[in-house]
Amino acid sequence: MANVSTAYTLGASCVNATRPAAVVILAAGEGTRMKSDLPKVLHPIGGHALVSHAIRAARSTGAPFVAVVVRHQRDRVVEHCRSLDPDLLFADQDDIMGTGRAVECGLAALPEDLEGPVLVTSGDVPLLTGETLVEVTRRHVESGSDITLVTARVPKPFGYGRVVRDNNGSVTAIVEEKDATDEERAITEINSGIYVFDAALLRSALGKVTTDNAQGEKYLTDVVKVAKAEGRSVQAHVLDDLWQTEGVNDRVQLATLGRVLNQRTCERHMRAGVTIVDPATTWIDVDVTIGRDTTILPGTQLLGATSVGAGCEIGPEVTLRDTVVKDRASVTRAVANLAVIGEEATVGPYSYLRPNTVLGARGKIGGFVETKNADIGEGAKVPHLTYCGDATIGEGANIGAGTIFANYDGVKKHHSTIGKHSFVGSDSVIVSPVTVADGAYVAAGSALTQDVLPGQMAIARGVQRNIDGWVEKARPGTKTAEAARAAASQTGPPHTRSSNREGDDAQ
Ligand code: UD1
Ligand code: CA
Repeated sequence: MANVSTAYTLGASCVNATRPAAVVILAAGEGTRMKSDLPKVLHPIGGHALVSHAIRAARSTGAPFVAVVVRHQRDRVVEHCRSLDPDLLFADQDDIMGTGRAVECGLAALPEDLEGPVLVTSGDVPLLTGETLVEVTRRHVESGSDITLVTARVPKPFGYGRVVRDNNGSVTAIVEEKDATDEERAITEINSGIYVFDAALLRSALGKVTTDNAQGEKYLTDVVKVAKAEGRSVQAHVLDDLWQTEGVNDRVQLATLGRVLNQRTCERHMRAGVTIVDPATTWIDVDVTIGRDTTILPGTQLLGATSVGAGCEIGPEVTLRDTVVKDRASVTRAVANLAVIGEEATVGPYSYLRPNTVLGARGKIGGFVETKNADIGEGAKVPHLTYCGDATIGEGANIGAGTIFANYDGVKKHHSTIGKHSFVGSDSVIVSPVTVADGAYVAAGSALTQDVLPGQMAIARGVQRNIDGWVEKARPGTKTAEAARAAASQTGPPHTRSSNREGDDAQ
């Protein structure tokens, strides 16, 4: 708040026709119909809270001030908004209810002598774009209006404020559903709750608005009547794109708008050269980037700050969150979170990449492999049934099926390194911390606890003993004993004799 007056001087000195002097975002309502402990405006679609969509649209107008009006769970809402944008202003609404009071409180957070167009939007109208806000402001300024309402003609106007026009078609009032006559209820042009007001008019008109209505609230919409009575000009900007005016009141609308937003996001990527085989089952958050000629197969979710390169194949059934996939990589039936997948690398099916997995170019993470804090070098392969946590795997190394990096001793995590072009045999346990040098081998089935030097082969397992005659002695009369006898009669007795013939401990 301390630097508000400086910012204001700056803002006022560069008046710009398409730029509002301020935007007020209403987000104080309780959102009772969500039936949620989470404030309505913090419910997400497309990877962002509803109010974040409103803040982004508001910010993209270039307005020098953006104020968010809060009340219900104000600390939670403020904390979230501030984490996105530390320059936001916050206004606390008091015990007087209604959108009019909310805007009055919003104005109080703005410089007292603010002049010019003030945009008012809602924290729960997530599909409204910054371009629309800029366009409405431009129209407002160019037409010299005192108030510009964004309206829409909808087939089912129930619940919305209706736009009342006179015989000349001029807007005279907005009537709320609960206060409307039958005749007014039949009007299909609705108030979207998005407006541009002349700042001075808004301030003075709100002072004259009362709470004398069906809900006992101070309605912002009554400003229209007050302005008309004073001979001020009110125009409506009818928006054809109805979704941009839709608000979220319950979880059904949250899902509907989430799907529409997703459809729009998918279309944007398809127009930019991405093949999306089935947009209906592909979910892409708004900030995700995807390169040309990448194909997204059904059942895929690309979330958060994920970025996918060009010429990749992602899916089916892949969930990537905050993950980077470089060009021409392929990822199938996998989950990755905070991971990096290198150029031409392959992942899946059934792989789980946890935070800080970095897979090098042309590397492979295969079926039933889980990785975490794992740096897997260029061309290195972890193809089957492995847990690879807290490990560095050198370029071109191969980790055999069923290898487990035992990184946790019950108290601390430890790190292991497998050198370049080294080879870990199947079913090995790498008991961290251990270092296998470049160009070394680990025999299958090893439980490795010591370092291995370049060129060495490490064997860390019990030596095999074969006990002659064990089956005959311990399992007489079984089919196994019969098979052993039949085989021995054809091939003769075993060539290899075990050194220990007792065999009583070999159960
Ligand atoms: C409002 C409009 C209605 C319009 C509709 C569009 C009024 C009186 N009515 O009705 O004409 O068709 O939006 O969606 O304005 N809010 C506050 N403080 C409050 C009350 C609400 O900040 O005391 C905020 C809410 O958090 C929400 C927005 O204002 O973001 C709209 O409030 P809501 O209660 O949903 O208004 P509606 O009854 O839908
Ligand atoms: Ca509403």
